[in-house]
Amino acid sequence: MKGLILSGGEGTRLRPITHTNAKQLVPVANKPILFYCIESIKRAGITDIGIVVGSTKDEIKAAVGDGSNWGIDVTYIEQDAPRGLAHAVLISENFLKDEPFVMYLGDNLITGGITDFVKEFTQNGSNSQILLAKVSNPQQFGVAELSHGRVVKLEEKPKEPKSDLALVGVYMFDKNIFKAVKNIKPSWRNELEITDAIQYMIDKGFNVQSHIINGWWKDTGKLEDMLEANRMVLDTLTTEINGFVDSNSKVEFKVVISKGAEVINSIIRGPAIIGSNTKIINSFIGPFTSIEHDVIVEESEIEHSIVLEYSVINGIKGRIEDSLIGKNVEVSASPLKPKAYRFMLGDSSKVGIL
Ligand code: G1P
Repeated sequence: MKGLILSGGEGTRLRPITHTNAKQLVPVANKPILFYCIESIKRAGITDIGIVVGSTKDEIKAAVGDGSNWGIDVTYIEQDAPRGLAHAVLISENFLKDEPFVMYLGDNLITGGITDFVKEFTQNGSNSQILLAKVSNPQQFGVAELSHGRVVKLEEKPKEPKSDLALVGVYMFDKNIFKAVKNIKPSWRNELEITDAIQYMIDKGFNVQSHIINGWWKDTGKLEDMLEANRMVLDTLTTEINGFVDSNSKVEFKVVISKGAEVINSIIRGPAIIGSNTKIINSFIGPFTSIEHDVIVEESEIEHSIVLEYSVINGIKGRIEDSLIGKNVEVSASPLKPKAYRFMLGDSSKVGIL
């Protein structure tokens, strides 16, 4: 069995972060989402993994390399433009050959892993197995209609969903999927939809099994979803203090303080993670916050947020919440006169001022 990770998406809903970074590399609890996905495929016993990459290929290749860090073999497959998930399968035929495979969308996070689903697929002899999850906003996903426990109809982002069962971004296929991806037409968004390819398999009488998952799953396409994913993963942390915490500071609940980090006269109220060589000075870091390495937070308060590496937050009077702050960002109080807000914001930035 092989693995196929799709990392070609452009992440338009996470701009401006994704103007310069691959969305699959945005960290959750200081680890890129893509790495969780690699690890759960590896845990399922699969080590031959293809990664479909697009315009952010250099960054993904730099982060994952040849896979030897995980004991896996990685083959990169280049997609010239985001032409859909079924198109990604189509261009991966040379890599996948006749073998069954699990396809995993590189921005999806499933905390319970996929080992049991993969095992079941290899045992039940089906041509495809899909995972479904109950959601409150099915319009934003592929949606499945079941009859007597079997999938009868799949629809991509329906205006009037027939159920609240969304297609999770983990799919298992045998070689018959290639017939399907070669026979479907692009959708209204001009993509070859995997949803249509699976519908093709159902219509042609192939055995498509489905599983409703009970565990937690998130497609991390938007800021709120990133923050929720971050909450879920941070909540599983156990306290580990490898950095320096001075005697005027308090570290409460589940907190990871990485090597070389310094906490001076501050309160860290977990669950939270502080990356290596980061300095927290005269500040409050509240629950559900991930701060990457080499960040400085001084005279400021921040909670329920993600801060990426080499950023500086200094002298902010109001508490920062619900925020995703990119790399090398500076957010600071300005002593300059006249008193004014001074911004240099990238395209599609969002700022909320008190
Ligand atoms: C894709 C699929 C959709 C599925 C979702 C899961 O959506 O097309 O059927 O429910 O992933 O994350 P997209 O991310 O392309 O909007």
